[in-house]
Amino acid sequence: MKRVLVTGSSGLIGSEAVAFFDARGWEVHGVDNNMRRDFFGPDGDTTWNLERLRRTTRHFTHHPIDVRHRDAVLAIVATLQPALIVHAAAQPSHDLAKDRPFDDFDVNAGGTLNLLEAARRHCPDSPFCFMSTNKVYGDAPNEKPLRELATRWDYADPADHDGIDESCRVDACLHSLFGASKLAADVMVQEYGRYFGMPTVCFRGGCLTGPNHSGAELHGFLSYLARAVREGRTYRVYGYGGKQVRDNIHSVDVCAAFLAFYEKPRPAAVYNLGGGRANSVSMLETIARFEDLIGRRLAVEYVETPRVGDHVCYISDLSRLRAELPGWEITRPLDDIFHELASPPAAVALHPAGGRAS
Ligand SMILES: NC(=O)c1ccc[n+]([C@@H]2O[C@H](COP(=O)([O-])OP(=O)(O)OC[C@H]3O[C@@H](n4cnc5c(N)ncnc54)[C@H](O)[C@@H]3O)[C@@H](O)[C@H]2O)c1
Repeated sequence: MKRVLVTGSSGLIGSEAVAFFDARGWEVHGVDNNMRRDFFGPDGDTTWNLERLRRTTRHFTHHPIDVRHRDAVLAIVATLQPALIVHAAAQPSHDLAKDRPFDDFDVNAGGTLNLLEAARRHCPDSPFCFMSTNKVYGDAPNEKPLRELATRWDYADPADHDGIDESCRVDACLHSLFGASKLAADVMVQEYGRYFGMPTVCFRGGCLTGPNHSGAELHGFLSYLARAVREGRTYRVYGYGGKQVRDNIHSVDVCAAFLAFYEKPRPAAVYNLGGGRANSVSMLETIARFEDLIGRRLAVEYVETPRVGDHVCYISDLSRLRAELPGWEITRPLDDIFHELASPPAAVALHPAGGRAS
């Protein structure tokens, strides 16, 4: 039986990876210390998701380890010597990082280094998948000429139709502290690939989503918005007239990319991983769709000032990923994602905040 180590295994992507590999007959080991609760309060508590995994998987073992604890990380990788590492543990919020800069950097950059070095010592030939982010490009994508449409911003130049590719520069731009800590990790993951020849990959995520997000105001765009509509919460929209655009990818399609890289690894790979143009949507369009599906109006508070360094229009160009990992494709269209988040499965109704946790 092949063995995978998944960090952040109670979070959106990590929990999907646990279920995904478990269903394919892998022995799955998850590392998560529920730090999401510490970051985001009760909305971020992932206990319900861990319990769901324990109930629904066959070959899953949970390890409540903090990725900042170097000795613990070295020890578990030495013991397990996994055939694949999926590193999805993180402080994931752009906005929270400024309030917790030490925690943000220690988890995102330090935790990643701990895992990389553990992998180099104990399983250097095992593919190492790192969940990076499009925030490594800082606000450089905002330099693209844009045109304003009725409900969204879009790229003005037809050459930009497919979105941002991996050649976008990562320096001389504003990242947020989160973007900077993730970029530090991203560069280190590439370095372990180039310097040591290890099969590492950075997947630079657009908006990742799915029913197992412990959606909180500071993180989890679609899932928190759906929740705000369902529960009658007031939702804050920050700047750009609500026309800011994101491309959304379902967590299952993210995991398919992990498997595709496992089957075709190489050192220092970097791929943008989002929903692409077909799964792109603006804030205004998202609100209208959820209101329609849930049958309830959302109370919106419009804040004039955009979030620092926020993208106006971000669409992931998936050309490199499709070319180098053939067979991988988006399987969950945006409207399927909307439907799923509007009425998540009963299993999700376990969240401690009372309602459903998407
Ligand atoms: N969700 C998105 O839209 C998005 C977009 C781009 C990139 N990403 C990246 O994808 C990865 C996964 O994101 P997600 O949405 O699943 O986030 P998530 O918050 O749902 O999951 C992360 C998990 O990591 C755990 N964790 C945090 N600190 C830890 C620590 N010190 N030790 C052990 N576990 C710890 C948390 O408890 C949480 O369960 C992150 O690296 C994130 O930066 C996410």
